[in-house]
Amino acid sequence: MMTEQRAQDTNRQLHILRAEDWEAADIHTLLTKAESYAAEPRCQPIPKRLFAVNLFYEPSTRTKISFEAAERNLGLEILPFDVNTSSVCKGESLYDTVKTIESVGADVIVIRHSKERYFEELQDRIKVPIINGGDGCGDHPTQTLLDLMTIYQEFKGFKGRNVVITGDIRHSRVARSHMKLLKKLGALVHVSGPPAWIPEEYMPMFVPIDDAVRQADVMMMLRIQNERHRDNHTETKASYYERYGLTLEREQVMKKNSIIMHPGPVNRGVEIASELVECSRSRIFRQMTNGVFARMAVLTHVLKNARGGKVHE
Ligand code: CP
Repeated sequence: MMTEQRAQDTNRQLHILRAEDWEAADIHTLLTKAESYAAEPRCQPIPKRLFAVNLFYEPSTRTKISFEAAERNLGLEILPFDVNTSSVCKGESLYDTVKTIESVGADVIVIRHSKERYFEELQDRIKVPIINGGDGCGDHPTQTLLDLMTIYQEFKGFKGRNVVITGDIRHSRVARSHMKLLKKLGALVHVSGPPAWIPEEYMPMFVPIDDAVRQADVMMMLRIQNERHRDNHTETKASYYERYGLTLEREQVMKKNSIIMHPGPVNRGVEIASELVECSRSRIFRQMTNGVFARMAVLTHVLKNARGGKVHE
């Protein structure tokens, strides 16, 4: 008989909740799959009628629309769900909402929620795959995958590449998991930005912005996550840009083949000069395109796992 622990472990393998659960080999498998979708996005739609639900308790442009594009490319049917017109407004709990979505026949559920680790109350009780589309300051695994895909396309690998993650590290849900995964893959990771927004444990990786721009292969800029700040900060947009932003002058001293990334949404003229968002070094819109393919790879992976290795029967 299956022990409770084994049942929990099996159930947890159903879901994609934290990027750090991936090993280097998992990343390479998913990136290969994502690249195959990039070459031919609608190559092999899933013929069986499968339903996807995207449950977004927090605003999103990129993640929500690219999950929808990924699901449609794969031939999944999307059951529309809008938190603001649902019974969430009448006080329905997260668990009851997700259990309802499972009960009506969803095959995969994508969730974004402002509560860090919201998935802990779901992961052992929900039997259809959950993909974390972002939890508070916690994690955003598909963003990590699409960013890794973008770096891999550029440099054909990660080993020895110098990635500087710059900005509001403390409140970012991408910074922590990016650091862990990039290190597993052999990249050199540094952080830059206001020291007050860099957790103590990352200070040994700190480089001032004017050094960072000279040494980075990848300048990964983050926005100020105002919605997650508990204390009011005194940083004005102009002072932040001047002291920590990727200005036109700083871009001038970047290495020849180095690139600029940003998970979005971008605040032009705050963390990055408006002109640099679409400059030749920028891969910001490439990241968004890759988001569709990375999410197709993750959706196929979880559906296969949940369906005993088959999605095309
Ligand atoms: N990068 C990202 O998660 O963007 P959205 O908040 O628009 O989904």
